[in-house]
Amino acid sequence: MKRIKFLLLYLLLSTSALFATGIKTKPIYKDPSQPVEVRINDLLNRMTLQEKILQITQSSAGSNDVPQNRLEVAQKSNPQLGSFIYGNENAVLRNMIQKDAIEKTRLGIPVLFGCDIIHGYRTVYSIPLGIGCSWNTDLYRQACSVAARESRLSGVDWTFSPMIDVARDPRWGRIAEGYGEDPYTNARFAEAAVKGFQGDTLSAPYSIAACLKHYVAYGASEAGRDYVYAEVSDQTLWDTYLPPYEAGVKAGAASIMSSFNLISGVPGSANPYTLTEILRNQWKWDGLVVADYAAIDQLINQHVAANRKEASKLALESGVNLDMCDNCYPENLEALVNEGKLDVSTIDNAVKNILRLKFRLGLFESPYTKELPEKSRVMQQDGLNIVKNLAEETFVLLKNDKNLLPLQKDKKIALIGPLADEKGELLGCWSGHGHPEDVVSIFTGMKQEFGESNVVFAKGCEIDGNDSTHFGEALQAANRADVVVVCLGEHSWWTGESASRSDITLPSLQLHLLKTIENTGKPVVLLLANGRPLALEDVAPHCKAILEIWQPGIQAGVAVAQTLSGTNNPSGRLDVTFPRSVGQIPIYYDRRNPARTGEMGHYQDISSDPMYEFGYGLSYTQFTPSDITTSSVTVHEGQPFQVEINVTNNGQYDGKEVVQWFVSAKADKIARPIKELRFFDKQMIKKGEAKTFKCNIDPLRDLGFVDNKGHHFLTAGDYTISALGKNIQITVTPKP
Ligand code: BGC
Repeated sequence: MKRIKFLLLYLLLSTSALFATGIKTKPIYKDPSQPVEVRINDLLNRMTLQEKILQITQSSAGSNDVPQNRLEVAQKSNPQLGSFIYGNENAVLRNMIQKDAIEKTRLGIPVLFGCDIIHGYRTVYSIPLGIGCSWNTDLYRQACSVAARESRLSGVDWTFSPMIDVARDPRWGRIAEGYGEDPYTNARFAEAAVKGFQGDTLSAPYSIAACLKHYVAYGASEAGRDYVYAEVSDQTLWDTYLPPYEAGVKAGAASIMSSFNLISGVPGSANPYTLTEILRNQWKWDGLVVADYAAIDQLINQHVAANRKEASKLALESGVNLDMCDNCYPENLEALVNEGKLDVSTIDNAVKNILRLKFRLGLFESPYTKELPEKSRVMQQDGLNIVKNLAEETFVLLKNDKNLLPLQKDKKIALIGPLADEKGELLGCWSGHGHPEDVVSIFTGMKQEFGESNVVFAKGCEIDGNDSTHFGEALQAANRADVVVVCLGEHSWWTGESASRSDITLPSLQLHLLKTIENTGKPVVLLLANGRPLALEDVAPHCKAILEIWQPGIQAGVAVAQTLSGTNNPSGRLDVTFPRSVGQIPIYYDRRNPARTGEMGHYQDISSDPMYEFGYGLSYTQFTPSDITTSSVTVHEGQPFQVEINVTNNGQYDGKEVVQWFVSAKADKIARPIKELRFFDKQMIKKGEAKTFKCNIDPLRDLGFVDNKGHHFLTAGDYTISALGKNIQITVTPKP
């Protein structure tokens, strides 16, 4: 009897101990020591169909700072949604929504907060088109880290950036958001952005997830219009539009945004070939695909789906994981499953991808953002220095007759033009968290650099319109000065999304102002602040020097003034061709050679040459290149070799030189571009000194090409490698 009692007691105690342990044991998905894939599967197994569908739905949350509204937004938002677009300037609203997600939902899955941090959060730097001209990927990586830190501290985990759409049509407003016309350049800046945003690991306190967009061929939008058809052969897809994405994926990009455009008839957001075959099967990528804003619903406009239900099925099955703000998935997926038209495993795959990102970001462990005062979150001195240095490197000196620039510090300067004392316009498009009052205007920067009494400002006119009544004041200022700096260009909202323009010349009012100033006989320096290549054929003759400054961000005035004074020597080189007129578009450097050459095939009425070509840019100093040398003139696949060039600075200023290495194939099985950029490098060379620039060539990667299925090949034959106008011939022999 005693033994039985003892046994019963033992059983009772051990069951209750087990029970107690059971309660205390964390579910596997909450255990950070478990591998991510195990956590994902555990969580997925616990989710209802409805929870899964909400998880792959994104909505937007508040963008104003009125406290009651924040509360209202938080109360209205469904904390079971997988993600929000987060527009607020601090983390308060985020934390409210997050608290509901963690504490009030059954599984406590944290929300992912995304936002368009395109060129800086509050410490806004130059537009990406300008950044490509810096050819300084390391400095850009640092700027992206600054943006990541400010974003994460302000409640954003994920940026919809970088935009790496190769763009060859200046009429397209979104040309401002990418790194120009060349696939290789976009690829290198894609990597830099991914590394800058994501850091060494996504779970680090200041890392945010990057998003490569807009996948794919959005830059090929017909005639520079937005959201339209893009006619892209598989060959062009592979040799021009996909390489930046492949590089970004290899660099570890956490997410990709599917594009609005039709790719030869199949929308980017309902395209099984690009979204599944290439991304998942060929590149083995396990990140998150988010649809561009309302792109699923727009499949109806694009005439590939009859209604929202069909659109939802099409997008999800093609590979779009997260529905951005058009509510198609929550509205339709459950019914599609119940009707047997959609397999739950397709939803599961999409859910896994968003959960994976949340686990990698460490959101399950640290869902909240510390609420810090503004001054400890944004506009730190190290960030300001980085964006100032970056702005300087984006400037491209297009013209400098008789070395008018740099200007001596004791000169009397008349600073004229609608952008000369502007702030907001110099932030550029997509600068949502930027504050115009943070911008150092060019006038302010010039006074600091040249002395208050040496700089006189007169606006002269607005950016557009026909009011010339203030030309007189500008003339007076010019007449009293030794030199005139005229600052002209575009509104920031003339580029960016849905901002196409058929005319890429300077507004006639501004040209008129320039000509009026020129008539004073004073030497004129033209500063251009714009977001696209402009047609400058009628502008260039009316000034002695032109500095393209793009839209340089908050340190604009400091960077411009220090460049005009020679403290900085401009080192930007164009990442995009400047046409002479709209009639030349499309015009880009890596075109194919025509069948008839020489005098034939040109325009009858205008020159066929661009105004300023890709890679162009002057310096205050003089760089002299040596011939190119090579470690091998005859190579075969699998035999790497090196080419080198020495550059001597024999001018009067220290300066940075950019060396771009191009490859040309004499004959191949696919007609290839006249030349293709394969590597670039930028180094400071002090006056009187020389530097060696080296390029390591892997024959298959660098001399080879890609076919219309994505296979890389190398053909035996003759190749030319060129840099700084020098060439060297290389022969590829058949593989032994
Ligand atoms: C744009 C994207 C952007 C998204 C979210 C879309 O209209 O095309 O580039 O990331 O909106 O703001």
